Amino acid sequence: MESPSIRSICCIGAGYVGGPTMAVIADRCPAIQVTVVDLNAERIAAWNDADLSQLPVYEPGLDGVVGRARGRNLHFSTAVEEAIAAADMVFISVNTPTKTKGLGAGQASDLKWVEASARTVAQAAQGHTIVVEKSTLPVRTAAVIQEILASAEGGKSFAVLSNPEFLAEGTAVPDLEAPDRVLIGGDDPGAIAALAAIYGQWVPAERILTTNLWSSELSKLTANAFLAQRISSINGIAAFCEATGADVREVAKAIGADSRIGPKFLQAGPGFGGSCFQKDILNLVYLCRHYGLEEVAAYWEQVVTLNTWQQHRIARLVVNKLFGTVSGKRIGVLGFAFKADTNDTRESPAIRICKDLLEEGAILQILDPKVSERQIALDLGQAAGDGSWQHVADVHQAASGADALLLLTEWQAFAQIDWPAVAAVMRQPAWLFDARAKADGGAALAAGLQVWTVGEGIKP
Ligand code: UDX
Ligand code: ADP
Repeated sequence: MESPSIRSICCIGAGYVGGPTMAVIADRCPAIQVTVVDLNAERIAAWNDADLSQLPVYEPGLDGVVGRARGRNLHFSTAVEEAIAAADMVFISVNTPTKTKGLGAGQASDLKWVEASARTVAQAAQGHTIVVEKSTLPVRTAAVIQEILASAEGGKSFAVLSNPEFLAEGTAVPDLEAPDRVLIGGDDPGAIAALAAIYGQWVPAERILTTNLWSSELSKLTANAFLAQRISSINGIAAFCEATGADVREVAKAIGADSRIGPKFLQAGPGFGGSCFQKDILNLVYLCRHYGLEEVAAYWEQVVTLNTWQQHRIARLVVNKLFGTVSGKRIGVLGFAFKADTNDTRESPAIRICKDLLEEGAILQILDPKVSERQIALDLGQAAGDGSWQHVADVHQAASGADALLLLTEWQAFAQIDWPAVAAVMRQPAWLFDARAKADGGAALAAGLQVWTVGEGIKP
């Protein structure tokens, strides 16, 4: 059943969340015109590129969805005000990074882009507009948006909803097409029904949950905090396994078989990255402190502390195994994205680990199938020390003359490395450090490498 009221949607922010989410809405609701706007003209041009392999966000299946809807009822534009004026519903899907300066620096989210968006909506909207928070936001941000909208002049009216996005990068399209749940928070029944009717085009009604605004905002932070907590938990146990001869994959399988724990998100690795987990936990920590809940804040803060520790631990381990120094030694880095199947490097564990190794003077040969050299340069820009790095095109080049290969992103291609050929171009004695347990460690060992695997330790 089509919602009677919504004919035109505008989404402010054509990023990792706004782009794929709106593409799927447009694909599933052909009667609704969806316009995604952004101030970044280069990004909009890339979304409009005739060559669908050039979309600014790499997500498996996204090219197909965009290809079907673009030009029909999906549009990408820099005409922000115009699109807002034409819309019955405006999604705010802009970036909300951790503040780097001023009050709450290092923990609180910087809401300047959200505030700017709300002001633009207040000024450009026409008639009645439903404003939907899509970006992950601190609890009670909707109150800020409501207050700004309330200042709008000229007989306009607004309803504010919270509709947090739970998609994960790399699986954005399937996550959007078959979500575990859609969460809509708000206090205006008509607005909630209008948004629920949009999702109702393809999501079963029992998966569309409605709550009050604050529960919806907090549920997003809590979901990310719980997921990140599982990763820090298993990474802590991984270090313990390495010290004791247990194998973290066996432990994860054994505990994951308990239906109360479940098998997902128990993959030990180099620590979590991505734009959400660290930011959202720090935000939760900041808010807990704000409300005087010091013990709760300290509890969640530890999840981030352990994550950072895991990254430094892996860099230290590499240095230790290479006889205590990597100065002037070549190390092939396999993977730079924060996880497989994405070109996103935000908070990627590879950044901290590579910086540590550069500080120790290493020469890094970095390979990632989707991350550009330009992005790596931005991420490693301020690395200290006299190490250096280069972007390489294949595993052979990454291994060439190297004392070690360090696997940091679980790209499927890294499971199929021809180890005898790779070992032949490395300097002996050579190592494989597999921080994702992705490579065929047995084959690397058979080819003469020494092999360390996260949560398992050194292969005998
Ligand atoms: C996450 C949430 O999953 C998603 O619901 C939310 O909307 C945004 O944040 P995302 O950051 O895209 O999504 O990816 P996710 O798959 O959750 O992975 C985050 C990080 O955790 C990655 O660095 C990944 O490699 C790591 N991870 C994940 C592990 O180390 N082990 C695991 O078992 C799972
Ligand atoms: P996310 O992962 O949350 O989608 P991104 O950084 O990928 O975050 O995308 C957010 C987008 O929002 C960026 O492309 C940025 O240019 C855009 N943006 C930020 N503020 C505004 C604004 N006031 N008007 C339009 N677009 C904006």
